[in-house]
Amino acid sequence: MKKGFIFDLDGVIVDTAKYHFLAWQNLANSLGISFTHEQNEQLKGVSRVRSLEKILEWGNVSISQEKFTQLMSEKNEEYLKYISKMDTKEILPDVPKVLEYLQAKRQLIALGSASKNARAILEKVKLYNRFHTIVDGTNVSKAKPDPEVFLIGAKQLGVSPKNCIVFEDSVAGVQAANTVDMISIGIGDKNILHEADYVFKDFTEIGEDFVNQLIITKKV
Ligand code: G6P
Ligand code: MG
Repeated sequence: MKKGFIFDLDGVIVDTAKYHFLAWQNLANSLGISFTHEQNEQLKGVSRVRSLEKILEWGNVSISQEKFTQLMSEKNEEYLKYISKMDTKEILPDVPKVLEYLQAKRQLIALGSASKNARAILEKVKLYNRFHTIVDGTNVSKAKPDPEVFLIGAKQLGVSPKNCIVFEDSVAGVQAANTVDMISIGIGDKNILHEADYVFKDFTEIGEDFVNQLIITKKV
């Protein structure tokens, strides 16, 4: 049977949170707002617009719409400088192995990311061609935990949501998958991702037996 395997990008395939952190910290500090790693954690899976809104809320700072737009583009320019230096070494452990196994098993593979830079990042780490379809921040209007990004992915793969499996590192992403009865697999900390159907530290913990089980079982 063909299942739809949908991968988030940031924190699942590559660790870009460190680059988002540097760019957001620079922006926050320029406004006199402090920005910590804990706060950066809370921005995982959160869209660019919402991220800036949250930083301004944390700092109790209000700015004009014009300034908001300018800061968003400055943040992205800095982020893109880090992205431009990425290569295959930045792929998280065993991600290619799992993608290759799914391909060998003739499963359908999608990317489901909130990032507008997803395609550029996949090109940099040479994984672009591993996906049957890519749904990113340029294709959706509603951010996770809304399931829009995953529903579009499922539709483009031609698979019903209940036959999809989502790999996610953010709570919002796990919730998005659960909302539409997709199997949710959290990648990261069990305590944070406790709403997921399964949680693994990373892909090194995901063996072929588990993937085989995902191919044959349905969410109950
Ligand atoms: C992912 C990341 C977020 C980021 C969002 C938008 O969900 O986890 O931290 O804000 O994508 O990314 P973008 O590349 O479009 O700014
Ligand atoms: Mg993520």
